Amino acid sequence: MKIAFFDTKDYDRNTFLKYDGMSGLEFKFFETRLCEDTVGLADGYDAVCAFVNDDINSQVIEKLRSFGIKLIAMRCAGYNNVDLSAAYGKIRIVRVPAYSPYAVAEHAMAMLLCSVRRIHKAYNRTKDFNFSLNGLTGFDFHGKTVGVIGTGKIGRIFIEICKGFGMKILAFDKYPSEIDGVEYVDTDRLFAESDIISLHCPLTEETTHIIDKKSIAKMKKGVVIVNTSRGALIDSEDLLNGIKERNIGAACLDVYEEESDFFFEDFSGHIVNDDTLARLITMPNVIVTSHQAFLTEEALSNIARTTVENILDFFEKNELPNEVCFRCKNSAG
Ligand code: NAI
Repeated sequence: MKIAFFDTKDYDRNTFLKYDGMSGLEFKFFETRLCEDTVGLADGYDAVCAFVNDDINSQVIEKLRSFGIKLIAMRCAGYNNVDLSAAYGKIRIVRVPAYSPYAVAEHAMAMLLCSVRRIHKAYNRTKDFNFSLNGLTGFDFHGKTVGVIGTGKIGRIFIEICKGFGMKILAFDKYPSEIDGVEYVDTDRLFAESDIISLHCPLTEETTHIIDKKSIAKMKKGVVIVNTSRGALIDSEDLLNGIKERNIGAACLDVYEEESDFFFEDFSGHIVNDDTLARLITMPNVIVTSHQAFLTEEALSNIARTTVENILDFFEKNELPNEVCFRCKNSAG
């Protein structure tokens, strides 16, 4: 079984290589992303392995099908970049539903602490032997209210971490459940009462731009927004305006609406032509990481293991517990 991997980096190759040659698997790692221009590279392979910023639209799916490919193995949890309706009945899609929810929840808290306690500023200052404290005042987490949107695997772990800080937890989820010490509220109340808002829901039609000028207008002045889920949950222009108008106190962004143009690549020698991203990065109260929340040794190793299991399950004609499809129960699409 020849598998074409797209959008690969050294850390992908390093974790997947140990499975290369096992159980008849043969891997080819392409650095390029999968899109209409690059789909031709998949000709001659039996399956494709793709990642968060590959563009698996209906044309790409049609081409893959014409090459005889019957499986796309996503080596990630999210699949908003796959046209599930176009794939239905033609190509099966599997994913890694959970590889380390701890990795993402801990990164959300790392960004939050860094931002609120101005660690990013202090780090640069002390590197330059500047030991002044002016402008580094943060606030205690203890007693503050955190609003969590999406209380699935990652949201719940983030909630447990917040509880450790003695925070009050409000939550909103389309399918609320019982979580000790958590009050489910509607978004209006969550926006109005939260000092910190952290996004842990998937990107769907309903959640696209869940943070925009209308919701920002309902929030507390000085609110801190954390997004480790998907960039388009936030209208970036509206976020920027909220920061300029001093309504948003800080933003911690591991994802960005137009991240596929930039994230995972080195643009340090280039002029970045996305003015919104450039302006956000210049803000002293914005921290951007490059879709890094998943990047722990444990997560990478779990991603590789589950992806290989998914691929073998398909070729051995077993059930596909990690399948997502237009009509599957476990899919939002
Ligand atoms: P999950 O499926 O366990 O939880 C998602 C939760 O969102 C569920 O409780 C669901 O009911 C809720 N939800 C669905 N639609 C909603 C809506 N319209 N409004 C409010 N809540 C809604 O997913 P998990 O594993 O917790 O992941 C959450 C998100 O984190 C993923 O969708 C993915 O986009 C993102 N992610 C980011 C990573 C990174 O490296 N930055 C890595 C892994 C996931």
